[in-house]
Amino acid sequence: MKIIKASNYDEMSKKAAQVIAAQITLKGDSVLGLATGSSPEGTYKYLIDWYNQGDLDFSGITSVNLDEYVGLTADHDQSYAYFMRKHLFDHVNIDLANTNIPCGIAEDPAAECSNYDAKIKSLGGVDLQLLGIGPNGHIGFNEPGDELVAGTHVTDLKESTIDANQRFFASRDDVPRQAFTMGIRDILQAKRIVLVASGKNKADAVKKMVFGPITTAVPASLLQVHPDCTVVVDADAWSLCE
Ligand code: F6R
Repeated sequence: MKIIKASNYDEMSKKAAQVIAAQITLKGDSVLGLATGSSPEGTYKYLIDWYNQGDLDFSGITSVNLDEYVGLTADHDQSYAYFMRKHLFDHVNIDLANTNIPCGIAEDPAAECSNYDAKIKSLGGVDLQLLGIGPNGHIGFNEPGDELVAGTHVTDLKESTIDANQRFFASRDDVPRQAFTMGIRDILQAKRIVLVASGKNKADAVKKMVFGPITTAVPASLLQVHPDCTVVVDADAWSLCE
């Protein structure tokens, strides 16, 4: 695991964006694994800025997103499909036909999951996977538990995740209880991983991810065995590791 320390959220975002920009520049047809939530928003802002300056070209890029809430349509303003358009896709020259996000209202969830894994495989796998981390150590929506699921699946969100994400919804009751998520094998098979973590509420999870035992109780701790994983933290997220 390579650790890059930044002083604050903006610097963290810039450093993560630099790694992604290098990937896009060196391999114009990269498959990018993308994340949503507060952590990567700043990273996407930098990528959009550099695109606007003429330094980045997304025309050959394919994307696969980590997850989507069960029951939300792509035009629901808290769906991850909506998030991706708002925070990245609408602002760069990526071909929307080459963007992939599990369908939150799929009629056959099991088929949606196996088709998603088949899609990732058909693309030759993920070149670079961007991740955030949940305060409970989840990556994607692979929640802590006795075992982790390998491929894309529907998962029940932990109460702590519902608590953490209620800030995006009108009320806690509105937070979906389930989500589609890429599995732990899907994530670990990415050739490169970049995880961004910011804020004191991530400090405990970051410490366990980097220094704790490798355990399904902290899904992010499995990243310790990945051969090319870069963790970009701000000072608050790193505060328990000093
Ligand atoms: C989002 C995702 C989640 C988030 C995590 C942190 O696609 O897969 O694992 O990265 O819940 O969320 P934020 O960044 O909002 O704190």
